[in-house]
Amino acid sequence: MNTAPCQMPGQMRAAPQDSLLDLYLTLRARTLDLVAPLSPEDMVVQSMPDASPAKWHLAHTTWFFETFLLNGQPHYKAFDPDYAFLFNSYYEALGPRQPRAQRGLLTRPPLDDILAYRRHVDTHMHALLAGDINESTIDFLRLGLAHEEQHQELLLMDILHLFSQSPLRPAAAPDWPGDDSGRAGRFQLRPGGLVDIGHSGCGFAFDNETPRHKVWLQPFEISDRLVTNGDWLAFMADGGYARPDLWLSDGWTQVQTNGWQAPAYWHATSEGWREMTLGGAVPVMPDTPVTHVSFYEADAFARWSGARLPTEAEWEAAASDGALEQVDTVAWQWTASAYLPYPGFTPGSGAVGEYNGKFMSGQMVLRGGCAFTPPGHARPSYRNFFRPEQRWMRSGVRLARDLHAGVAATDRDEATFASDVVAGLSARQKSLSPKYFYDATGSELFEAICRTPEYYPTRTESALLADIAAELTAAIPADAVLVEFGSGASDKTRRLLDAAPQITAYVPIDISDDALRQATLRLNRDYPNLVVTPVVGDFTTLLDLPRALRGRSLVGFFPGSTIGNFSVPEARQLLRNMRAMLGSDARLIVGADMVKDEATLVATYNDAAGITAEFNKNVLRRINAELAGTFDLNAFDHLAIWNAEYARMEMHLVSRVDQIVHAAGHTFAFKAGERLHTENSHKFTRQSFGALAADAGFTVEQVWVSPAPEFAVFSLKA
Ligand code: SAH
Ligand code: AVI
Repeated sequence: MNTAPCQMPGQMRAAPQDSLLDLYLTLRARTLDLVAPLSPEDMVVQSMPDASPAKWHLAHTTWFFETFLLNGQPHYKAFDPDYAFLFNSYYEALGPRQPRAQRGLLTRPPLDDILAYRRHVDTHMHALLAGDINESTIDFLRLGLAHEEQHQELLLMDILHLFSQSPLRPAAAPDWPGDDSGRAGRFQLRPGGLVDIGHSGCGFAFDNETPRHKVWLQPFEISDRLVTNGDWLAFMADGGYARPDLWLSDGWTQVQTNGWQAPAYWHATSEGWREMTLGGAVPVMPDTPVTHVSFYEADAFARWSGARLPTEAEWEAAASDGALEQVDTVAWQWTASAYLPYPGFTPGSGAVGEYNGKFMSGQMVLRGGCAFTPPGHARPSYRNFFRPEQRWMRSGVRLARDLHAGVAATDRDEATFASDVVAGLSARQKSLSPKYFYDATGSELFEAICRTPEYYPTRTESALLADIAAELTAAIPADAVLVEFGSGASDKTRRLLDAAPQITAYVPIDISDDALRQATLRLNRDYPNLVVTPVVGDFTTLLDLPRALRGRSLVGFFPGSTIGNFSVPEARQLLRNMRAMLGSDARLIVGADMVKDEATLVATYNDAAGITAEFNKNVLRRINAELAGTFDLNAFDHLAIWNAEYARMEMHLVSRVDQIVHAAGHTFAFKAGERLHTENSHKFTRQSFGALAADAGFTVEQVWVSPAPEFAVFSLKA
């Protein structure tokens, strides 16, 4: 066990003894509350070797306090000498014991004796805790409390198993609340890198959570919510339990041996699937998380989904950053990690050293917590463990997946790119969306453009933001969340973060996963107190923000004049979407480049080093790489021109010759001189921007304009 002190030295260890006594009495009373709906007969039966009778749990938890705390006291006399044999669970150092699978044969001692045993031990614990106690006693007390909490959870799981065997399917706890349902999970990009996992040295933890140590994580994605019953039904409908290719060899053996066709507590009825819960049998609800599945099932489901289970380090890193929902409220989550000692692990000495360490073989780690877990019992470093075929405990599934070679692109993203390219190159006036510039190379090229002497917008906006940061952020409330659209390198963001430490969370949204990953790494390094939750996606669609941020004040940030890359109707819709994402009292800070003389603008998009030209041609390079394209990049010229009618710079690629190009399985003809329109960069006036904002339901609260070349920052309120 590990009960190192927290921020306030001595706070935990020297907790006033009456508060330790309170903790003890409250916990012991809760155990009795949990068994209150049960009859004495319910409490004797053992439904399978893994599940213990409720009466045994009542006695064993009591035995633990007696053995590890009271037996060492000078005048303590054991309640009954036989109980050391009957209620020792697995401690070899403490002698022989009733075999685990035969706990259900203990019709004697009767329940009344066990309740008297509890009272006896409680009386002596009361006396012990009222006197002077040393550090070691406090440590054992905390272990005993955590131990009884574990048994409270087990007791519910075991009773549920017992009741699930009854043809009456009775409710063990009729008022037990149903599980959280809601939206489907979304994969959250995690940057990986070097992370610390394990108990951080504050408060109680089991020995298996230590020592805290470093783990290297490749970038990965992890779902922010659990796999649902609906997902599981789709897996079953697709023959999930009948396809050996989805299963580990041992898992497939289990499927066949046990005849698994559904999660443990599901049963088919004429009205569809029902599942056994503490509240009795209920219809399987598609939007609630699936529970009571084995590791083998979780693993097969993940394979079927094109994903995998997270490792315990991935899980802990994501959970500690607040990136996950349904962390400890529904079901323990299987991980891909075998239950092994952490580097440097040493179990405690004496019998208590048998608590965890000797089980570190043949089991898998589960993380989180579940609906049966007592309040406050779990923590992000908690390592639960079960054998891979077990499924009577409340286990569920959270998916993760690898980022392959710089792509978070799903099949759907690839299909969209292909269909947009085919549509754009087939049109009478060929065009492509500028969002397709930004793969890893495109993002790097954009950053290189920002360093060219010609491209004034970035440095002008950065300087302006630095000047006005204090004023701009003054009204941002405590604990606010900054949400940035098209965050790229997140460099300008730092102007705001530095001026507004009350911003405690940051959600950068970008279509370029590579840029996002790099930016997240740098921000995590430089702003250790900031929770960064990157979202890879197209901000022109209505993206769900992480649920963990619900109820907090959101401030939108849309710098770089990226708004200029959209037509006026598109920009209006985009601002409306942002308002919807940010909430009805949204604040939005937008950077916009201003109309100015044509010569300056044309030079800005025609840098002498040719980087903008390369950026422009990057979309062709991407088509070649990702859609089997045959573009010859030298057969196109970069063209940047001012369109006065629409107040915008335009970028085109101009075919030098008549040519035929193949891409995405299609053939496209270009005439010499024909243009492929790749980008618009609208420029604004105070009036044109104000009108756009007003059309989208925003009012301009304040505007700051830089000295020439003019760039503006608008502060908008919904
Ligand atoms: N905000 C940064 C970067 C601007 S570049 C700055 O001011 O310097 C534009 C950024 O928007 C790029 O990182 C690009 O990947 C991203 N982007 C462009 N279109 C997008 C879209 N539809 N959805 C999400 N991100 C997009
Ligand atoms: C990101 N966006 C605002 C830039 C712009 O100026 O339109 C992209 C860019 N295109 C050419 N140079 C920079």
